[in-house]
Amino acid sequence: MIFCFTGTGNTGFIAQRLAQATGERLVWIAKAIVNGVFQYRLDKEERIAFCFPIHGWRPPFVVRDFVESLKLDGYVGQYCYAFATCGDDVGLAFDYLEEDLNGICVRLDSAFSVIMPETYNFPFIDQIDTPESARSKVAAACARLDSILPDIIERRRGVRKFNKSRWPRINSRLLGSFFLKHWVTDSKFTVAPDACIHCGKCASVCPVGNIKCDPLGSPVWQNNGLCTTCFSCYHHCPAHAIDFGGRTRGKRQYFFNNDLLNDL
Ligand SMILES: Cc1cc2nc3c(=O)[nH]c(=O)nc-3n(C[C@H](O)[C@H](O)[C@H](O)COP(=O)(O)O)c2cc1C
Repeated sequence: MIFCFTGTGNTGFIAQRLAQATGERLVWIAKAIVNGVFQYRLDKEERIAFCFPIHGWRPPFVVRDFVESLKLDGYVGQYCYAFATCGDDVGLAFDYLEEDLNGICVRLDSAFSVIMPETYNFPFIDQIDTPESARSKVAAACARLDSILPDIIERRRGVRKFNKSRWPRINSRLLGSFFLKHWVTDSKFTVAPDACIHCGKCASVCPVGNIKCDPLGSPVWQNNGLCTTCFSCYHHCPAHAIDFGGRTRGKRQYFFNNDLLNDL
């Protein structure tokens, strides 16, 4: 069973590849949370996977909350692995996940990460990839995934294939908690009324159902407590009308789509 959270599609793509390669079921964490489904039955031979993007050098908080509430009936020590996508490095993200899994008496056997196109923008510089660099990152990620698949297929335990970063504690503990406290919020999203074309795309791509459209069709963030600032709304807006705290105006947009695979 593959539990996956994805904002802009990078992790969803990897999880779908894992599902194809292993023949295992895919469960979308965001949908499960919105529908309140936390109990699953495992087969004896089934692998368990947790796939997520790195947010502030940690798993997104919705992934951690989901794991905390998760009930896996039939768990008898099946192979369990984590697979993260990131822009650069993961910090202590897998340690956090391992701790959460320990809390529900599930052992994390192996952990992997791949670099995918960047989806987060810090102030001042535009960190989002150009279409060319997004394409080459996706190509490299596909090659890396192929090299990791035998570990997963053969259920190899104790495999750790990821880059922690140079200062993982500072990144995950210090910066990660600052990030979570001050920057993970939907209150900084705004829409430019003149630019919005009222298409409703932002509402349809929000993984956690946090955007509703007003009678004119403009987005209203619901503050439902589930916004991870994944930036799916920002990146998908066809009119580039959405901004986050004044720091994304005029910057690039990106979301995963199958055209990125055309030349592979
Ligand atoms: C809120 C946020 C925080 C992020 N933090 C990190 C980070 O700490 N380290 C990193 O390497 N990438 C970070 N990224 C980049 C994403 O992990 C990466 O682009 C990922 O592939 C996005 O996956 P998705 O398309 O499934 O949402 C961050 C992205 C977002 C939106």
